[in-house]
Amino acid sequence: MGPRLQDWKQEINQCASLRDLEDIRIRLLGKSGEITQMLKNLGTLDAGQRREKGAEINQLKEGVRLCLEDRHALLAAQALDDKLAGEAVDVTLSSRPEAVGTLHPLTRTLEEITAYFVNAGFSVAEGSDIEDEEHNFTALNIPEHHPARQSHDTFYLNAPGMLLRTHTSPVQIRTMKATPPPIRILSLGRVYRSDFDATHTPMFHQVEGLVIDQGTHMGHLKSCIIDFLRHYFDIADLPLRFRPSFFPFTEPSAEVDIGCSREGNALKIGTGKDWLEILGCGMVHPKVLLNCGIDPDIYQGFAFGMGLDRITMLKYGLPDIRPFFEGDARWLKHYGFSPYFPAGA
Ligand code: DAH
Repeated sequence: MGPRLQDWKQEINQCASLRDLEDIRIRLLGKSGEITQMLKNLGTLDAGQRREKGAEINQLKEGVRLCLEDRHALLAAQALDDKLAGEAVDVTLSSRPEAVGTLHPLTRTLEEITAYFVNAGFSVAEGSDIEDEEHNFTALNIPEHHPARQSHDTFYLNAPGMLLRTHTSPVQIRTMKATPPPIRILSLGRVYRSDFDATHTPMFHQVEGLVIDQGTHMGHLKSCIIDFLRHYFDIADLPLRFRPSFFPFTEPSAEVDIGCSREGNALKIGTGKDWLEILGCGMVHPKVLLNCGIDPDIYQGFAFGMGLDRITMLKYGLPDIRPFFEGDARWLKHYGFSPYFPAGA
């Protein structure tokens, strides 16, 4: 018995492939394998011999099994190494600069703004393009027949009460209903209004910010907006003014203008005597807080909203929004950004 085990072990240890190893296993331990057969033959022996032989064969079987197991582990590891080596990618291959795409200016703005606010402790909240009147208007304190509803040139869907969101503000409502304060969110995305000219497309983009906490006041709102706009336009002393305004969902409300000059057709941001409207903001209206189950005697907050397309156009001096969505590769090549540098770098 001893020499036999030695022969089998040698055969197993010389076996070079998992498939051959499997053949050996079947030949020895399979249903009609040699060792299995030996065990079956035990039945023909008398009781005394059977016990002795039985123990011997089981020892042999165990020896073969362990040897097969070790060899299997070794061959499997080798097979994996070979596979990995075969699939290796040469990362030192240089790129083909002529084949590299560019980031759409809007994507660049979106990434830049997200990076800025995430750094300031905001998290990004997702909304849905399809909304209902309740979240897009009613909960935002814009009741039916309120003129603000008409001014939004809403696309209504066939399903009753459903529409394409006209602004990102419904994300405020959904967040406040779902999350207990404190809240600091930013929501960026597509919005829709039936309007089309050089500065309006039926689909455009907004970014919405919302902060809710105890003791939040107008000073927090002002510093948040001032710091952001000076960072975004990269002008440390960018002149700004908060002009009283009206939004149904904020009280008080303000529009923010930045200083600029308009000479002929040239718009210059940061200098001059003119003002350019850039965003809407305000302290969240107590009724809006109540609509979302937040006690306005405990929590206050501020919100702001602005057009992403518009601030992108202003920063890069693009006069017309329409080419943003025409998908012309030449335009993208000209106005796009290198994808290799992270936003804000
Ligand atoms: N939702 C407004 C609009 O589309 C923009 C806006 C103004 C959002 C003031 C706000 C805000 O959050 O406080 O015209």
